[in-house]
Amino acid sequence: KISKPILGVETSCDETGVALLRWDPEKPGRGLLSHALFSQIALHAEYGGVVPELASRDHVRKLLPLVREALKEAGLTPADLGGVAYTAGPGLVGALLVGAAAARAMAWALGVPAIGVHHMEGHLLAPLLEDDPPEPPFVALLVSGGHSMLVEVRAIGDYRILGDTLDDAAGEAFDKTAKLMGLPYPGGPALAKLAEQGTPGAFRFSRPMVDRPGLDFSFSGLKTQVLLAWQNADKTEQTRADIARGFEDAIVDTLAIKCRRALEATGTKRLVIAGGVGANKRLRQQLADAASANGFRVYFPRLQFCTDNGAMIALAGAIRLAAGQGQDQTIQVHPRWSL
Ligand code: KG4
Ligand code: ZN
Repeated sequence: KISKPILGVETSCDETGVALLRWDPEKPGRGLLSHALFSQIALHAEYGGVVPELASRDHVRKLLPLVREALKEAGLTPADLGGVAYTAGPGLVGALLVGAAAARAMAWALGVPAIGVHHMEGHLLAPLLEDDPPEPPFVALLVSGGHSMLVEVRAIGDYRILGDTLDDAAGEAFDKTAKLMGLPYPGGPALAKLAEQGTPGAFRFSRPMVDRPGLDFSFSGLKTQVLLAWQNADKTEQTRADIARGFEDAIVDTLAIKCRRALEATGTKRLVIAGGVGANKRLRQQLADAASANGFRVYFPRLQFCTDNGAMIALAGAIRLAAGQGQDQTIQVHPRWSL
């Protein structure tokens, strides 16, 4: 059944993302018509991290122009929309409220349903935007700036959390480690780039929690190990790259070990990787290798849909709206919200 296009709006952190999607499970990209993104990286770079108030203000500035751009690219007008989906949490409350208020107002003005989407469900479903998407049941590794989770997806909307982080999220560990070695914000991609120049094995850090049963993560100890190594190192560019490589290898190994453990525990043969850290090349390569060696399949979103974007929110919202889950007009956000 072909429905009308859904507008997706993402404003939970430092990216303003919008997309238009006409939900059609048979179509490439599930019917993605257009998407547009504005990244606030330059705005926050001089502060070394996201400044919530600046983020909110910039979402106000950029959201409607992006909606116009996406409509134009798709050859649509607002009257063509069948619903509006927006990220209702988790995230920065002011940033969330910008997207929520704008999305609800548009839906109200157009007389169409609106739906608040869980940001991590958006990440989780992002691989469905690719050709040959994974069919549930599958295991998903969600690794972003705010979360590191292993989730058993029994069906869309039926999620069981298998493991979570006890302290820093994987992306947070990348960002904090990068910062302590003097790399610019956002640290994750900068550290990964530097690690490409590093010598494998020059620095070896422990793989946290892999010797214990269970599927939880803990990355703050690893960050401390890197801090000590960095403090005691000569500060040459090569040493910095070697430490970056040692850190990246430790985190990627740890994630890969827990993924395989989760697949074994659930008897599943399909693994989905999503969230910003899913853009990490070494993680993608290592899991692709492990998949061919161990007889499972791994699915990734394309790089631009690993990090925050409107397309994943349009998709998650379109699926829920197609299932009749539109909501009343209350503007609600959940800065903290479990999946
Ligand atoms: O999903 P996302 O865009 O936002 C959140 O929901 O948090 O994830 C952002 C996180 C940041 O911590 C960033 O450093 C990390 O993803 N990240 C990476 C890479 N690209 C983004 N970490 C490691 N390697 C990358 N290539
Ligand atoms: Zn995210």
